[in-house]
Amino acid sequence: MAPMASEKVFYVTTPIYYVNDAPHIGHAYTTVAGDVLTRWHRQRGERVRYLTGTDEHGQKILRAAEEHGMTPQAWTDHMVESAWKPMLATIDVANDDFIRTTEARHEDRVRDFWTALHDKGEVSKGTYTGPYCVSCEEFKLPGELVDGCCPIHGRPVEEISEDNYFFPLSKYADRLLEHYARHPEFVQPETARNEVVSFVRGGLQDISMSRSSFDWGVKVPWDDRHVIYVWIDALQNYINAVGWGVDQDRFESIWPADVHLVGKDILRFHAVIWPAMLMAADLPLPRTVFANGWLLVGGEKMSKTKLTGIPPAQVVDHFGSDAYRYYFLRELAYGSDGSFSWESMTARYTSELANGLGNLASRVTSMVERYCDGVLPDWQPGARPEVDDALPAAALTAYEVADERMCALDFQAALVAIFELVRVVNGYVTGQQPWALAKAGQTDRLHAVLYHSAECLRVLAVLLNPVMPKAAAQLWASLGAEEQLGALAEQSVLHRVYGQLRPGARIAKGEVLFPRLEEAPA
Ligand code: MSP
Repeated sequence: MAPMASEKVFYVTTPIYYVNDAPHIGHAYTTVAGDVLTRWHRQRGERVRYLTGTDEHGQKILRAAEEHGMTPQAWTDHMVESAWKPMLATIDVANDDFIRTTEARHEDRVRDFWTALHDKGEVSKGTYTGPYCVSCEEFKLPGELVDGCCPIHGRPVEEISEDNYFFPLSKYADRLLEHYARHPEFVQPETARNEVVSFVRGGLQDISMSRSSFDWGVKVPWDDRHVIYVWIDALQNYINAVGWGVDQDRFESIWPADVHLVGKDILRFHAVIWPAMLMAADLPLPRTVFANGWLLVGGEKMSKTKLTGIPPAQVVDHFGSDAYRYYFLRELAYGSDGSFSWESMTARYTSELANGLGNLASRVTSMVERYCDGVLPDWQPGARPEVDDALPAAALTAYEVADERMCALDFQAALVAIFELVRVVNGYVTGQQPWALAKAGQTDRLHAVLYHSAECLRVLAVLLNPVMPKAAAQLWASLGAEEQLGALAEQSVLHRVYGQLRPGARIAKGEVLFPRLEEAPA
């Protein structure tokens, strides 16, 4: 029996990445967003599954392997182990699964899926003649090209003519349009949705589901002179990883995906071809395909092809993984393009993390150490509600807005709301001057101010844990919160009660959260 709807796992996926080369910060961007979303939903008390992985078949990978004098399998093994999996550790991503399209659990199901569609009459034989971009692994329409080049990679496309099996995409156009109309949340943001709708309205062509001029892929079950076209193979990872065709109960408890995170360049595959494949197989469609923008370099998409990719480790080595995760989600509006620069990252690190959050944490905890022997005091005798009530109000707003915005994948606005609390508490500390209260012997008032400041730090640790897990854990430890409230990851972002940290908590200043930066790399 399928589990009840309320038990459905919240399922988040990233694109699976081509392993022709090592990752750059453009790839890591989507992966961080998915990780933050996953951790946020976990702290809402939901069961969550976060999938990422690698796309290892096709001509692009085959050529990369040949250039390196390796077999494609040896090349993909090498890239996955030396570059792609380590990247996840570098940016502190806690995925639940990592699927590789060369694994049997994937290849076997790809064969099953297409055998079934072939048996249903959903496949026909034909010939494709036209342009193909190997970097995109995409059949292009002549009208899309710019001076004979791929508009994304700026490289000449190849003219190919080969026998292919076709999937009748065109016959799904009306059902797709109806789905977009009924489910406005299916493609987001709005700009992406408009693009997809007008593309489908413009008419769809049937697409090749196999290739026959090389053999690095999953062999077509009824004709081993063909391999399954790499995109058709890759898209299926999302269901194969959660038990499709193997464990129906498990599959139904996780599928459909709640969010497929994709870059805007691969939107049509996910919002047109993939749902049509699922319709053909009578499977439920994902709830949302969310397209993010690109990280740009000199106004163009950062890319391996153009050699403009910056490895995530280079940025993390300098700023740390927390700042890395914070910066990209705070700097770019999710869904829009944006640029990375060392200068802007340095500026945000210094003003928002080191001088903002980090300084607040160190001021408050060191004052509790100094004035109260590291024991959180009682706030009540020195309460001044006309001043202090601003803090519970600001904390509640941070909780509410952050949750609403995170669930909408508006990471930027969520972070702005959380850092508004940092600003309010910093202003409160500066305004109330606990050091002057200590000097004047106004102990009750001093205690009230320190209590409220520390309680707001608790709220910040809870809300920032999905984004900056290392700094949040350090803060949690320095507040002595674990003993009173349990593990940080268990703290619900929906439990918006103020005053959870109780007098008596053992507070210690601990390490600086965001140390001063060394010289920026050239
Ligand atoms: N293998 C396919 C995806 C298959 S999913 C079933 C693929 N791989 S990719 O490695 O080329 O790109 C993976 C993702 O990285 C895409 O979402 C792409 O948009 C993203 N990015 C690559 N460069 C990027 C930037 N410069 N900026 C942001 N994201 C970028 O496509």
